[in-house]
Order: sequence, then C-alpha cells, then structure tokens
Amino acid sequence: MIILASDHAGFQLKEQIKEFFNNENITTIDVGTYSKDKVDYPDFAKAGNERVLESPQNIGIYICGTGIGMSIAANRNPKIRAALCMNSTFASLARKHNDANVLILPGRYMNRIKAINIVKTFLTTDFEKGRHAIRVRKLNNMV
Ligand code: RB5
Repeated sequence: MIILASDHAGFQLKEQIKEFFNNENITTIDVGTYSKDKVDYPDFAKAGNERVLESPQNIGIYICGTGIGMSIAANRNPKIRAALCMNSTFASLARKHNDANVLILPGRYMNRIKAINIVKTFLTTDFEKGRHAIRVRKLNNMV
C-alpha cells in the first residue's frame, strides 16, 4: 500500500500525486493534511510512519516545502528509511542501496511531472541486497 502524507506546503503536490495514482487505479492511503491551512510536518510524518510500518510492503511518500523537515521527522523512527530525492537517479539509488521505504519530495521546489517520474522510479526499483544489506542492517545499531 502507498501512504501519502504532507504538510500545507506539500499539500498541492500530494493531491497531484494522489490524482496520478487514482488515474492508474492504484489505491493510496492519505493521512493528510487535507487543506492548505498551516500545520506542523512532524504530525504528518508520525501519522505516515504508523501506516507505513503496518506492512513491510508499504511505501510512504511524504511532502513538505523543502522535504527537509519531513526527512528529519520521518527518520526519527528507526524502522523508517526516508530519502529526500531531487531526481530519478537519487530515487533509484535510494531503493537499490538504502532500501528506502519512504520517498520524500520538496513540494515548493518540484513540479508535478518531475515528481511523478521520481515516484515511478522509486516504486519500480528493487533493493540490491548484498553489501548494501550489511550496511542497512547496521542502521539498526546506531544508538
Ligand atoms: C513550512 O513553511 C515549511 O517550513 C515546511 O514545509 C518544510 O519545508 C520544513 O522543512
């Protein structure tokens, strides 16, 4: 399942990405926000993380203005590997090397077409495992 989350600064791009999935008949879970009214990104990263961690197959897509706040907030949960991706190469590497389970996008600095290309790459790229699995496992021993 794909979990969508944003603050007010990511709301518009979240809606555009949701529309893309709707047109593809792909179901998403939208944990908010649901308007352009000002909200706090940690609340929506937390709500998104809770749903993402319900199944190892789940993928999150979180959006704030820069993507930085959402990245910091999402990665506070040790089971979340959230990657802020500015292009499709980063999205591909975030999946291949980091087994990222959350894609973060910068709503104020990326248009719909670029974002959808990044989303497609993220969703169609597999973790390479091997040496990268050793590194990802070490992330569980950071504290
Ligand atoms: C909201 O104004 C903005 O600060 C937020 O969306 C995000 O960019 C924070 O990192």
